[in-house]
Amino acid sequence: MNILSPSILSADFYDLKKDLTALEDGKVPNGHIDVMNGIFVPSISYVMPVIKSIRKHTDLFFDVHLMIVDPSRYIKEFAESGADLITFHTEAEKDIQGCIDLIRSYGKKVGLTIKPGTPVSDLVPYLDKIDMALIMTVEPGFGGQKLIPECVDKIRELKKIVDEKGLKIDIEVDGGVNIDNVDTVLDAGSNVIVAGSAVFGDDTPGKVKAFMEHLNA
Ligand code: DX5
Ligand code: ZN
Repeated sequence: MNILSPSILSADFYDLKKDLTALEDGKVPNGHIDVMNGIFVPSISYVMPVIKSIRKHTDLFFDVHLMIVDPSRYIKEFAESGADLITFHTEAEKDIQGCIDLIRSYGKKVGLTIKPGTPVSDLVPYLDKIDMALIMTVEPGFGGQKLIPECVDKIRELKKIVDEKGLKIDIEVDGGVNIDNVDTVLDAGSNVIVAGSAVFGDDTPGKVKAFMEHLNA
């Protein structure tokens, strides 16, 4: 028996239901799901196709946080997929200035970030070359973790240096931020607030409204 197994990698991720329904209605037996991590093969499968799909349907500013080694390898693809700002980790890139220049060469904004165990001093040489510095307040890798309180001091430390240098860059915070602790990270000096589990899930519109009202109060 011959079996058709369409690769979902080429589906429209904005309306995946439409494509899956088309397979089911067509009595297609299999769905082929590719998993790649950028090491064994050069691609990282679903990320780029998802960005491309949703780029067609929204004007959201795409703030892309790369948690991959040697991010320079992927800047072209992320830029062409529709990223507006590309943030990479100092810990993951040997040639930080080169990667900044590469992102700029595609006309995109640049973000640089550090994990909880990395000192703010690692960001300092690049602060006048980037648009945003991101302080991770959890170990990157998963949503839904608790904010590490010591990392809030790093936001404060960074904000002081940024102000002393007279720079106007954004300071982003990512990891464990919710409506109850957001004031702490705002007071410390961050102005771009990432929130995953505190926004999506039950009553996403209500949570979005609460955050938006709070941030713009
Ligand atoms: C963690 C990611 C975060 C994560 C945040 O590695 O960088 O962006 O999705 O999720 P919450 O807000 O649930 O901590
Ligand atoms: Zn993130």
